[in-house]
Amino acid sequence: SERYAKIWEGGLRGDLREILYDVDTLQSTILDMGEQITRDYAGKEPLLVAILKGSYPFLADLARAINLPLTVDFMAVSSYKGTKSTGVVRILKDLDRSISGRDVIIVEDIIDSGLTLQYLRENLRGRGPASVEIAALLDKKVVRAGKPNEDMGAKYVGFECPNEFVVGYGLDYNGRYRNLPFIGVLREEVYS
Ligand code: XMP
Ligand code: MG
Repeated sequence: SERYAKIWEGGLRGDLREILYDVDTLQSTILDMGEQITRDYAGKEPLLVAILKGSYPFLADLARAINLPLTVDFMAVSSYKGTKSTGVVRILKDLDRSISGRDVIIVEDIIDSGLTLQYLRENLRGRGPASVEIAALLDKKVVRAGKPNEDMGAKYVGFECPNEFVVGYGLDYNGRYRNLPFIGVLREEVYS
């Protein structure tokens, strides 16, 4: 992470107002999540379903923290235009294989309104899996004030995130910033 600090001294990092989760913080929380999943799925072979594109760094790190045989598959959905959720979910890329009888863990970067995951979970439940759980790196709980996380049914959540537009570690603004190794808040000047 010292090398990362050097790489990210200037440049793109200047577009951030604040860093919320640095490299070490992300790694240590994801290692915890992996340990928990390893315990919870002992004796099973989970299928990690990553939602593209935002979850790719999270999937890579989470999968390497789970000491179980597992497989991965990918879905791409579109539910977000600019910085506001629309609630309209479109499947742009579906899974390659059947999930019938599988223990599915949906791997998602961030829960905002929760509409995307609600739709996806119902969609996957209709395909006859043994179970469907959600692992989300961030949860913007504030948006659903009064509705606890259990309502969303996300079993594994990394961080409760402030209600700000965040980028980095897979999260983008118009396709950019996914390659930041940390997560931060974009300066308003950048998107206004
Ligand atoms: P919903 O509202 O359906 O939205 O839970 C989830 C999806 O919206 C995207 N999203 C964000 N992307 N910074 C981002 O880069 C954010 O702050 C943010 N909030 C939501 C994300 O793709 C997620 O899958
Ligand atoms: Mg996403």
